[in-house]
Amino acid sequence: MAGSSSTLSGLRLAGKVAIVTGGASGIGKETTHVFVKEGARMVVIADIQDELGIQVAESIGTDKCTFIHCDIRIEDDVKNLVQSTINTYGQIDIMHCNAGIGSTTDQTLLQFDVSQANGVFATNAIGTALCVKYAARAMVEAKVRGSIVCTASTTGSYGAARVTDYSMSKHAVIGLMRSASVQLAKYGIRVNSVSPNGLATPLSEKMLGADAKTVEEVFSKNSMLKGVVLRTNNVADAVLFLASNESDFVTGLDLRVDGNFVTGAEVI
Ligand SMILES: NC(=O)c1ccc[n+]([C@@H]2O[C@H](COP(=O)([O-])OP(=O)(O)OC[C@H]3O[C@@H](n4cnc5c(N)ncnc54)[C@H](O)[C@@H]3O)[C@@H](O)[C@H]2O)c1
Repeated sequence: MAGSSSTLSGLRLAGKVAIVTGGASGIGKETTHVFVKEGARMVVIADIQDELGIQVAESIGTDKCTFIHCDIRIEDDVKNLVQSTINTYGQIDIMHCNAGIGSTTDQTLLQFDVSQANGVFATNAIGTALCVKYAARAMVEAKVRGSIVCTASTTGSYGAARVTDYSMSKHAVIGLMRSASVQLAKYGIRVNSVSPNGLATPLSEKMLGADAKTVEEVFSKNSMLKGVVLRTNNVADAVLFLASNESDFVTGLDLRVDGNFVTGAEVI
């Protein structure tokens, strides 16, 4: 069971087995590094970018980190990800459901494109639900009091000036997290989410059609907190808190990592 070993070593995730979806890049890559640094026994990266995922695992060391190809839109892929993790490492203590995609066009309501929205939902909402489903089943079966952390977004709590489908899908992630936290509480399984404001990653750079520096400048404008720029390590630290036993009595929380987001700012 997750728990006592982390207290003994002083490392916050000592002995735990974690899966990070979308761990080949951006926030998930950072989370993977932080989990290993905090003593996780094994972190399994699940992603569709095989080359990048393998690179991240090898740079960390394959005794601590491994890569499995998994498209979270495909139920059999998610099932296989969870089953093979259990077969090889015994159990799953932490599931970071982080993989996601952005909108590829403005997607204002007046120009709303259904097939694009279905694609965004297939990954961000349904794919995330599949990851929660199979991780939770494994935890229930093995009687592991695990922690599931989803990556939502500030756009999951506020109206967006554009990228309507993305905003809708992130509202769905928060709804999923809340329902799962209610349904899984009786098993001692905690489910929470983190909601970053915008930060520079390949996803946001593509969505804004801008380089990392410009993306940071744009998003800094809609954070009230000045003097600090949101980076992947800030998000990973919040995920670490929710994944670790330090948040032992926290469930159903959407933890905003947003420097106090300014609502109504027409950034996205
Ligand atoms: N970057 C931001 O500004 C920002 C803000 C709020 C929330 N988020 C969320 O953070 C999460 C991580 O995104 P990021 O910004 O690090 O972007 P990223 O593009 O660097 O990482 C996303 C990862 O998810 C993977 N992925 C995409 N579709 C997948 C699928 N079907 N199956 C498995 N893996 C898949 C990608 O290959 C990639 O490695 C996403 O859920 C995103 O919506 C990002």
